[in-house]
Amino acid sequence: MSTETIVKTVTSAVGQLSVQPAQADSTSTVQSEDTYKYQHLLPAFDNNKKYAPLRAFDHVDPGHRALSHPNPISFLGNATRVTEMTPNLGTEVEGVQLLSLSHQERDQLALHVARRGLMVFRNQNDFIDSGIDSYREWGSYFGRLHIHPTSGHPLNAPELHLVYRDAHSTFNFELDDRITTTLWHTDVSYEVQPPGLTTFFLVAQPSTGGDTLFVSTVSVLKSLSAQFVAFLRTLKAVHSGIEQADHSRSGKRGGVVRREPVETIHPVIRKHPVTGEEALYINKQFTKGIVGLKREESDNILNFLYDHVAKNGESQARVHWTPGTVVLWDNRVTAHSAIVDYKESKERRHGVRITPQADRPVSALEA
Ligand SMILES: [Fe+2]
Repeated sequence: MSTETIVKTVTSAVGQLSVQPAQADSTSTVQSEDTYKYQHLLPAFDNNKKYAPLRAFDHVDPGHRALSHPNPISFLGNATRVTEMTPNLGTEVEGVQLLSLSHQERDQLALHVARRGLMVFRNQNDFIDSGIDSYREWGSYFGRLHIHPTSGHPLNAPELHLVYRDAHSTFNFELDDRITTTLWHTDVSYEVQPPGLTTFFLVAQPSTGGDTLFVSTVSVLKSLSAQFVAFLRTLKAVHSGIEQADHSRSGKRGGVVRREPVETIHPVIRKHPVTGEEALYINKQFTKGIVGLKREESDNILNFLYDHVAKNGESQARVHWTPGTVVLWDNRVTAHSAIVDYKESKERRHGVRITPQADRPVSALEA
């Protein structure tokens, strides 16, 4: 396979994984799946593509522009229902079409997601069916679109991260040797400029199950003592993409690594560039250790914090997916976990994530 281009694609109605020699154009090998409306969003894994390291860029957060607006929630003016999911996290909205928001209203949306951590918009079929170019335009408004180093993406659309599972294939982390599929994380936190406002929706979902858990990392931080927070504020931690890349190199999750993994040092507590709120910024999936501490010290502090995040029900919310739902969260002030409780049903769950990168995390001591 050294010189041969291999493209792995989901090809059958039940999503069997096939490995096919590519055509001269390595992006032209997906076989049509006539019965599935979202076949154009099926994941492809092109082993021939290699990406250069990500370069630094200046991020201008749209939420800044809404700070001076006299009524920064006027974008919800046409809503038929606005529900606070919990006091500490999440707002659910009906009656507002994301696709119809003006640029000024998108700025307000970015600010509100930063403040509430999570927003759930129901009945967004127009958005979901608007297509790949529309997703790109939407995401690019909020920041440079992240191209994932290992995950599957629609053909010719590497800026879209796909979540996919069906009866015969899976392209996400397998956790079969764990007692739970719950794995709290923030997305690709190993990047130098990790994601901010993130948009996610499902185009296929199981009849029951497959909810997503969220937690406010602002709220979990507030429940710690001021003295402990003052210590955490001085710390930095290493976030690594190596394990994720090695997982793919072992042949799982599509088996491709298109950009070499990076390790990056981020503050343990970061300050949001728009709201100024501080949030805990460590996660069990990508954080490997606290800089300057001995191994046991680092492990004990991180494990305590992971445990705190996992058990802090006051800071959590759970999104139940209904057809047409689009969810937005701010990766700088939240963490989340999938729940794979529908595996036995063998039903398809297929999601699309639009993931703009944002600022390089800074602590309140640096800002
Ligand atoms: Fe995630």
